[in-house]
Parts: sequence; C-alpha cells; structure tokens
Amino acid sequence: MKIITTVLEMQTEMREKKKSLKSIGFVPTMGFLHEGHIRLLRKARAETDIVVLSIFVNPLQFGPNEDLDKYPRDFDRDKEIALREEVDYLFFPSNTEMYPKSSSVKVVVQERTEVLCGKSRPGHFDGVATVLTKLFNIVLPDSVYMGMKDAQQVAVVDGLISDFHFPITLVPVDTVREEDGLAKSSRNVNLSPSERSEATVLFESLNMAGSLINRGERSPKVIVSEIEKLILSKSRGKIDYIEVLSYPELKQIEILEGKIIIALAVKFEHARLIDNIVLNTHELS
Ligand code: PAJ
Repeated sequence: MKIITTVLEMQTEMREKKKSLKSIGFVPTMGFLHEGHIRLLRKARAETDIVVLSIFVNPLQFGPNEDLDKYPRDFDRDKEIALREEVDYLFFPSNTEMYPKSSSVKVVVQERTEVLCGKSRPGHFDGVATVLTKLFNIVLPDSVYMGMKDAQQVAVVDGLISDFHFPITLVPVDTVREEDGLAKSSRNVNLSPSERSEATVLFESLNMAGSLINRGERSPKVIVSEIEKLILSKSRGKIDYIEVLSYPELKQIEILEGKIIIALAVKFEHARLIDNIVLNTHELS
C-alpha cells in the first residue's frame, strides 16, 4: 500500500494506472474507520483493480457550531485497517494541500438539499460536493463507493456526477449496523453509555414505521408522529427531523407510494446521529 499526501503525486500515479487500463475504485472517507467504511472497501476490492481510500476531515462541510474539533481521528489505526483490507493507495492530504488558498470557486447544490440534513446544516452539501469534485479530479476513479447510511449524500452525489458529466459510476452500499441495530458511525464514540443504549431507538422506530407501512399505513403524517412518540418515550435525544420523502428525488409526498425514504436525525449531547430506511411500497411482502 502506498500512502500519498500530495495532489500532484496522486494524479501522476492514477494517470499511470489508467494507461494500463486498470479500473480505479474510490472510497472517500473522513477516517476513524469502522465496519461501515470496511464494507465499502471490500466491495471496491471485489469489483475494481485498484482501490483508493481517502482520509480527509473536510472543514468545508462542517458548520460553525458543528463538531469539527471533536471529530475522532486515529491515523495509525486507519492505516492498519487499510493494509489489512488490501487498499492500494491511501490518500491522506493536509488541509493546506486540499485548500492551499482562499477558493475562487465552490460547488453549490441546488436540489435535494432543502430537506433532511441539508435543511439543518446549511452549506453542508456544498462542502461535500466541492471536496468530492476536487477528489474526483485527483483520484480519477471509475467508480465511487458510498454508504446508504448517508442516503441524502448519495442522492446529492448522484446529481453531482450526472450534472457535471463525471465519467464515474456511483455504487450505493447498504448501511452496516451494530448488533443492536445502531448504524455504525464514527460519531458513536461521543455518546455517553446511557445515550449509547438510548440510541437504539432510532433504528427501532424506523422498523416500527416499516411494519406500519407493511400493514397498510400510507400517511406520512401518521408515520412521522408514531416515530416521534417512540423516540420521545425512550430517549432524551433532541429530534432534529423525522421525514418521509420520495427517493432519490427527496420530494414531499402526501401519500406513500413507490420508492420512499424514512429518515431521521437525533441530537445527543456530544453527537448528532442519523439513520434511514429506503423501501418500495410496490415491493412489500
Ligand atoms: P464519512 O462519514 O467518513 O463516511 C465515508 C463513507 O462511509 C460514506 O459514504 C458513508 O455513507 C459511509 N458509511 C458511514 N457509515 C456507514 C455505515 N454504517 N454503513 C455503510 N456505510 C457507511 O461521508 C463522509 O465521510 C464525507 O461526507 C465524505 C463523502 C468523505 C466527503 O467529505
């Protein structure tokens, strides 16, 4: 495995690989790797010749009151995991390498952002789209592997790739969970022990909503209020949002029909957690 910290070296290596027609699979992350990230790496390893992992905590996607300083980091551990997972290139740039001067251009996301995380994190997806545009031009991947845990991010990147004509295939990967259902996240370590046990209510409430829909419920309002009741009864977390929308368009709907997402975000003292399920009312058992 090669560890690369400069843009120029990364681009030079990737151009070389492209000459020999190697396919490049890319897994962008902010590090502190866990099984969610590992699932993406394994899928990339199975499907492409060259696997590139990037680790960069992107300041541009954090708001002024968000947890940039608290974001967990452990490069030595990440390096070990990357080695074990047979990553070929680990791109680990500094802030000044990625943002050497004040930027004259940024990417602004115009759709799929006024809902879910986009609503409560203004500018967040502009930061994500900007850094990914840069990373795509540095890594030159054929496919990019991204987790459905961040379903809105997947929807936004889908728009970025098609609008900007990046010759890249987006591969969405299912959410990896702890045994008790909590979606794996680098932020979970910031939960106190009692918050950690309360946090299982997120997935529990999504499952409850899934069963209501399975039994015929089609009103988004009813679904949202049932989820809210359950979360409030079992946790001290503050509900940021609970939404039921079409997927991947992320439009409000009056009646559940076709492919939909039920997504929520709950704020605990030192961590804001998100989770979602995507289901298709035409494919229910
Ligand atoms: P990060 O939060 O490190 O996540 C990197 C990738 O891992 C994302 O595609 C995310 O959806 C995926 N992931 C995280 N937890 C997962 C889980 N439990 N199951 C499956 N996949 C999971 O998302 C980012 O970084 C950044 O916004 C980034 C895309 C790197 C841009 O800075």
